[in-house]
Amino acid sequence: MYYIGIDLGTSAVKLLLMDSEGKICNVVSKEYPLYFPHPGWSEQKPEDWYEKSIEGLKELTKDVDKSKVKGISFGGQMHGLVILDKDDNVIRPAILWNDGRTTKETDYLNNVIGKDKLSEYTANIAFTGFTAPKVLWVKENEPENFAKINKIMLPKDYLAYKLSGVHATDVSDASGMLLFDVKNRKWSKEMCDICSVKEEWLAKIFESYEKIGTLLPNIAKELGFSEDVVIAAGAGDNAAAAVGTGTVGDGRCNISLGTSGTIFISSKNFGVDKNNALHSFAHADGTYHLMGCMLSAASCNKWWMDEIIGTKDYASEQKNINKLGENHVYFLPYLMGERSPHNDPQARGTFVGMTMDTTREDMTQAVLEGVAFALRDSFEVAKSLGIKIERTKICGGGAKSPLWKKMIANILNVKVDVIESEEGPSMGGAMLAAVAAGEYTSVEEIAAKFVHVVDTVEPEPELAKKYDERYAQFKEIYPALKPVFQIIK
Ligand code: XUL
Repeated sequence: MYYIGIDLGTSAVKLLLMDSEGKICNVVSKEYPLYFPHPGWSEQKPEDWYEKSIEGLKELTKDVDKSKVKGISFGGQMHGLVILDKDDNVIRPAILWNDGRTTKETDYLNNVIGKDKLSEYTANIAFTGFTAPKVLWVKENEPENFAKINKIMLPKDYLAYKLSGVHATDVSDASGMLLFDVKNRKWSKEMCDICSVKEEWLAKIFESYEKIGTLLPNIAKELGFSEDVVIAAGAGDNAAAAVGTGTVGDGRCNISLGTSGTIFISSKNFGVDKNNALHSFAHADGTYHLMGCMLSAASCNKWWMDEIIGTKDYASEQKNINKLGENHVYFLPYLMGERSPHNDPQARGTFVGMTMDTTREDMTQAVLEGVAFALRDSFEVAKSLGIKIERTKICGGGAKSPLWKKMIANILNVKVDVIESEEGPSMGGAMLAAVAAGEYTSVEEIAAKFVHVVDTVEPEPELAKKYDERYAQFKEIYPALKPVFQIIK
């Protein structure tokens, strides 16, 4: 039997075909455009997601017996607002998780409604990327679009809706909408009222590993699949990545180095960071998690390599970097503003500390280190809550770089466990599909069977100490520049 995981990412949709034993049989990736209509805004067309996913599904399964495909599920970029009218047409492009346009709405929610109330209703406060402030933005700025809303959905749920005809979401992704009562795993009536959201616009809620329906007959025919293919709810990409890396159960950690950078800590019990710097969300295995999310991680390196240096050969640019812990150049990775822990959409990317002898390698090193230092910011918040993390898994495109993994191990001073593949969300999606189809009884069971650590990057005490000193300097830069960011337009 085969199971398919669809990772609906920001730069591309990545599809993975897995057999019942967890062997990866094929992987396909299809890119689509990302639009930045204003500085700090970020949009995509849901129609592109669907078109590229169908193309990808065909390519993924072209050499296998398609009648053996039993289940499909998802890991999806979180928080994006997709709005459909009464005829199921997409009303406007989706506003994405890294879009910073909702400063006014976020301030209103945090300061007028109040963080205490938001935290009581949803376990979280408002961030510009979250879904509810976007609904308020559409209401205020595009009343003609707001008047047409008949359904609200998250990115991967749009795909699931197109494939199954069922308007569903899962607990992990719903957690990032600020409309969801995370503790009790249900919509928050209070938040819907505050955000002018009608409850009938919202999806039916499922656990991530539950079946929401089956593939629509016309799509099954187009793909050559059986009509019994189970569509499982799936998860937000970080929860799906956590499943894919075996970060389930209690007290485990996963770092994702994708377009965003996240630190994900699984927890059997519901808990809230009292300062709400870390998100408190439901997990895809039926439990909970805390998460810190930086908006630009591997995307900083991609920007630096592709746009500025002008190369696609990332490995060659990294091979001469050998002065770890000694770089006097720092990079603030806030190319799209920052979420965790600063919650500052006005923050910007910055290089600090160059001198006449600064080299191209120093700058590249600073970019990689800046991302790792910013991850440490969230890591420090977790530590301040009394959470002890000695080791972490790692996934995402950035996890392909041995140098970056070494920096992370030493900057965070944790053991970094490397698993067979860095395909976090698509692997997790396929695993959720296998549970929903009844092949495995629980997410914990399948994770224990499928996920194997193949290497561990250990921190080196001397280097970790040097990086501690560097981190102390890095920490001073953002507060010093914060007032400057407020006046840069
Ligand atoms: C998590 C977040 C990002 C996106 C990236 O809160 O906003 O990690 O899910 O796809």
